[in-house]
Amino acid sequence: MRLLIWFSFLAISLSHELPSTFQKCPRKGPNFSQCSVKAVENAVRQLTRPIKEVGLPVIDPLEVPSMTIAPGNGPTKFQQNYKNMKVWGYSKGQFSKFDFDFGQKTVTLDVLFPELVFEFEYDFNGTILVLPFQGHGPGVAIFEKIKYFFDFWLEEYTRGGRKYYRVVRNRLVMEPELIKFKFDNLFNGDKELGDKINQVFNDNSKEVFGDVKSSYEEAFGQIFTNIFNRLLARVSIVDLFE
Ligand SMILES: *[C@@H]1O[C@H](CO)[C@@H](O)[C@H](O)[C@H]1NC(C)=O
Ligand SMILES: *[C@@H]1O[C@H](CO)[C@@H](O)[C@H](O)[C@H]1NC(C)=O
Repeated sequence: MRLLIWFSFLAISLSHELPSTFQKCPRKGPNFSQCSVKAVENAVRQLTRPIKEVGLPVIDPLEVPSMTIAPGNGPTKFQQNYKNMKVWGYSKGQFSKFDFDFGQKTVTLDVLFPELVFEFEYDFNGTILVLPFQGHGPGVAIFEKIKYFFDFWLEEYTRGGRKYYRVVRNRLVMEPELIKFKFDNLFNGDKELGDKINQVFNDNSKEVFGDVKSSYEEAFGQIFTNIFNRLLARVSIVDLFE
């Protein structure tokens, strides 16, 4: 047991290099931002498999064991319980902005995902646009042309004589263009009622998502912050850049 603790301490306390397949950018170069946009996009493309040495998990599909979204204040008066969620499409992000402000210690990222597909088991009970409904079973939500705008606030600290960053605060804003839902087994499989509620979800998808958008932004902002922090805890600042 003691040996195990010692080994895991060693694993995190050693500084790691970025994987050789990751592109590095000259921090003081004239085109740092353009270079970083490409480097981040290229790194994200590789995360269809884990890169254990720098703590990065698979993000396509991204696995979320469970998630609870509180009821909204508008049309969605029901708690959204999800289990075994898998999100497909995060490795296909098209980055348009990567600003690293070394003075303010902030990172700003804009990325467009052509399509994100969320597969899950859901458990809902409440009202949608005043219509009572309930159900549990498999479901899917598809977001087309969805933009994520990230802000990360960093803090610098020293470990073993080396300087590292960690994210201490984040903000995520999501802007989807088109949303489609399909919830199977609503009303214990009553097809007529289930089809009707699915229709209500799809006819009002913008309003439905808008009502709980901030909860999703908080949840996924935290998930991506945790992933970013896993990398930052292993690769010291000087090793992040050329
Ligand atoms: C930097 O970017 C500018 C404008 O995009 C380009 O003209 C220039 O060749 C680039 N310089 C380097 C060193 O890549
Ligand atoms: C849904 O919620 C209502 C009101 O809280 C409750 O009476 C009902 O039993 C619930 N139905 C299911 C299937 O959980």
